[in-house]
Amino acid sequence: MRLIHSLAELRATLAGERDTAFVPTMGNLHAGHIGLVEQVKALGGPVVASIFVNPLQFGAGEDFQRYPRTLPADCEQLEAAGCDIVFAPDVHEMYPEAQTFHVLPPLADQLCGAFRPGHFSGVATVVLKLFNMVRPATAIFGKKDYQQLFILKGLARQFNLPIRILEAATARAPDGLALSSRNGYLGAAERAEAPRLFRLLTEAAAAIAAGSRDFAGLERAASADLAAHGWRVDYVSVRAQATLLAPATDCRDLVILAAARLGSTRLIDNLEVSTAA
Ligand code: PAJ
Repeated sequence: MRLIHSLAELRATLAGERDTAFVPTMGNLHAGHIGLVEQVKALGGPVVASIFVNPLQFGAGEDFQRYPRTLPADCEQLEAAGCDIVFAPDVHEMYPEAQTFHVLPPLADQLCGAFRPGHFSGVATVVLKLFNMVRPATAIFGKKDYQQLFILKGLARQFNLPIRILEAATARAPDGLALSSRNGYLGAAERAEAPRLFRLLTEAAAAIAAGSRDFAGLERAASADLAAHGWRVDYVSVRAQATLLAPATDCRDLVILAAARLGSTRLIDNLEVSTAA
């Protein structure tokens, strides 16, 4: 495995490659990230993982400074998973220009975007840049970040990028908590409380699968339960899978998305649910 910091070296190393598979990350890798690497390793082409904590997608007062940076341990895990190249540019390599063009995707100001202004613009911008740097045939993203995945699929479509976007199921701890680099911020009591988020999504999904169409009521009940247990809720929202907008009355493929804070840690999760015709 090669660790590459400069774009010039990356380009030289990948020159002529046609089936590169790409796993963009911000590092501090866990089993969810490694699952993405394993999924694209099976495709047979070279696998590139990027590690870049992207300042553009963090808002003022968010955790950019304290976001865990663990490059040596990340490289060990990537090598064991069969990754071929780790691309870890520094901020000057990524953003040499004095002013950066921003890609502002649709849905940028909804759901998480409503609470993290500029976040999805920062994500779309860095991923478009990374795509142009790596020029992959395939890129893979996790459903854990459902809105991000949706926005990036739209990015690939709208800019006609010749990149196949794959998606990976959310890797979870045995108690249901979605794996996340931010779980490391949780204290012991918070970690014990954290699985409630997925539990409530599971309950709401079961109610919908059993025929409930009272989405607003389900959203309110889950939010109230979280608040009663010390969470500060950003949103719990039932949306249409196809648009990520409020579902039409006959919509059958739904996704319940939620974001809430435990202490200073913001956790997100989601669950798809389809109802019978
Ligand atoms: P990061 O949070 O490091 O996540 C990198 C990739 O791993 C994303 O596609 C994310 O959805 C996926 N992932 C994270 N936790 C997961 C889990 N528990 N199960 C499955 N997949 C999981 O997402 C980002 O970085 C950044 O926004 C990035 C796309 C790299 C742009 O900076």
